[in-house]
Amino acid sequence: MAAMRAAITALLVGLASVSLPAPVAPDCPRALGSPLSYEALREFVVSNRIRSIDELLPCLPADVRRDFTLVYGSRSPERYSASPSHPRVILFGPDAHLLMAFTGDPGKPFFDRLQLIEFRNEGSRFFFAEASFPGSGPPIFQESPVACTTCHGDDGRPIWDAYDLWPGVYGSSHDLLHPGSRERRYYEAFLARGRHESRYRWLDWTKNSPVPPYHDDIMTWDPDVFPNLRLSKLLARYNAKRIARSIEQSPRYESEKYRIVRGLLGCEPLGVPLNLSDEVSRSLRQSFAAKVRRNRDFGPTQDLDVEYYAGGSARALRVAQLLDVNPDDWSLALEKKAFDFQDGDATLDDFLLTEIFRSLAASRPEIRRFMRVIDEGASKQNALVLDGGASARYRYKGYDAIFTGLGGALLRSQARPACELLQNGNTRNNPAEAATLATAAAEPSPSTEPQADEVPAPDSGNPLQRYCGNCHSGEKPTSTRFPLDDETAMRRLLRSNPRIAHDFMVRVASSGKDRMPPRPPLTEPERTEIQDFIQSLEE
Ligand code: HEC
Ligand code: HEC
Repeated sequence: MAAMRAAITALLVGLASVSLPAPVAPDCPRALGSPLSYEALREFVVSNRIRSIDELLPCLPADVRRDFTLVYGSRSPERYSASPSHPRVILFGPDAHLLMAFTGDPGKPFFDRLQLIEFRNEGSRFFFAEASFPGSGPPIFQESPVACTTCHGDDGRPIWDAYDLWPGVYGSSHDLLHPGSRERRYYEAFLARGRHESRYRWLDWTKNSPVPPYHDDIMTWDPDVFPNLRLSKLLARYNAKRIARSIEQSPRYESEKYRIVRGLLGCEPLGVPLNLSDEVSRSLRQSFAAKVRRNRDFGPTQDLDVEYYAGGSARALRVAQLLDVNPDDWSLALEKKAFDFQDGDATLDDFLLTEIFRSLAASRPEIRRFMRVIDEGASKQNALVLDGGASARYRYKGYDAIFTGLGGALLRSQARPACELLQNGNTRNNPAEAATLATAAAEPSPSTEPQADEVPAPDSGNPLQRYCGNCHSGEKPTSTRFPLDDETAMRRLLRSNPRIAHDFMVRVASSGKDRMPPRPPLTEPERTEIQDFIQSLEE
């Protein structure tokens, strides 16, 4: 049976190069269900006497074969077996909890090797395995091979560059195959021929794009054709769970956790030292420049707004500092001590906040209601309460289902009431920490309900600062912080994301519940003054 399938496969490979027939799925013994686990996969291979990766692939669930990306310039041990015409495949399925990697050049070593990484909720760890298919006999499964730790680390994690540049991966910059670039030429050649051959044809190529699974139009927003971004986002979440587990093991965690979660929420400053911020910005700039060099010959690259992400990285490192934990392997980059922790919207600090908050909420039902499925980064970046349809969550398919599966996220726009509850609950539940909190409580307490006496101080700063600064900027904003007093930063923010500008305009124009400022209502001239100012920043 198995031998016959192999023969059919071989025949198809032969035919494919000539007439490119649609792949005919061999009858798989029994369909593998989704979600797929390593255990189920292994059981399937063993009990059905699967003898090669080519026999296995068509039997994988359809949704698993839909999401993948292709590596032509690998830095793994398989690097000499991967090339533009025969890229290494990283198959990651709907939610990337199970990653499979294999090569596609039958004439090169490693062709018989399937590598797997599985994120396991229990223990919040990545599990590693390798299956080799000698052909002549049954496959050999090696679990937690020591060899993987050389690159993937002792507390193993995937290796994946941060948004928005993945040198060596097709769609290297922005998941975009730039017309005219070398990478584009390679990819077109691969699409014309290679992908119909060998095991590539078992992948799903039906995504809506001339260059699936990537895109070739800078204006496209279809989340389906951003596999590299999607993988980044999903891995960022699992990685944060891994890091959260490791920081919870710090002896300092119990005594510091409320300070950390309150600092990350913005209830109080987290106290990021200036030299740490500088170090992070410098490091981000250097590692981005190194990535640009790696990608130089393949296509143009989009710039990275280092300053935009540096704050988040610095806050994450501050957490490491407070807990005396070594963050050298926190990023997913191959290089140690890379501090690029962002996923295009959110940064590791957002994810850590979510994870720590979740573990606090496990024993604190009253704070659980602040957990909701949102894109943390979107609330930070777009400053929107996320029902308006403008959030980054719409940038990828099945977001809600997937991210609920990952445990949801913290609704940052609810930070203030969460701060108060954390404070009260903390005092009530943990008398040992009451003393620390007494200090915090003595400070003027932020309020969810805007106070009537928070009238703007006339003549101080630009119109936004004057009418909105009381609550949205300064040392301790009572709502989402915006750099209102810094016109350059504000201009960058509004230009980089027109949705923020849009939301500002909508709220200033509104006379409904969402109006800003909440009280007192703006007079018409005041409203015009603010709107003109916002427009001037956007231009
Ligand atoms: C020499 C360094 C090195 C070793 C050793 C290594 N890998 Fe990797 N691995 C990489 C790199 C680099 C990538 C990123 C993609 C690429 O460059 O091909 C990667 C990618 C992967 C991927 C795809 C998901 C991801 O992390 O991007 C899997 C799965 C994987 N490796 C599994 C393993 C397993 C299992 C082992 C041990 C049997 C192993 N690797 C050993 C360097 C290594
Ligand atoms: C008296 C305090 C106060 C003032 C003054 C104020 N806001 Fe707000 N703002 C809030 C509160 C509280 C919220 C959260 C409740 C909500 O989303 O409606 C908020 C939310 C927002 C949001 C959504 C932020 C997010 O993360 O979801 C925007 C945008 C906003 N305000 C803009 C403005 C602008 C523009 C001004 C000045 C014209 C302004 N605000 C003045 C208290 C204030």
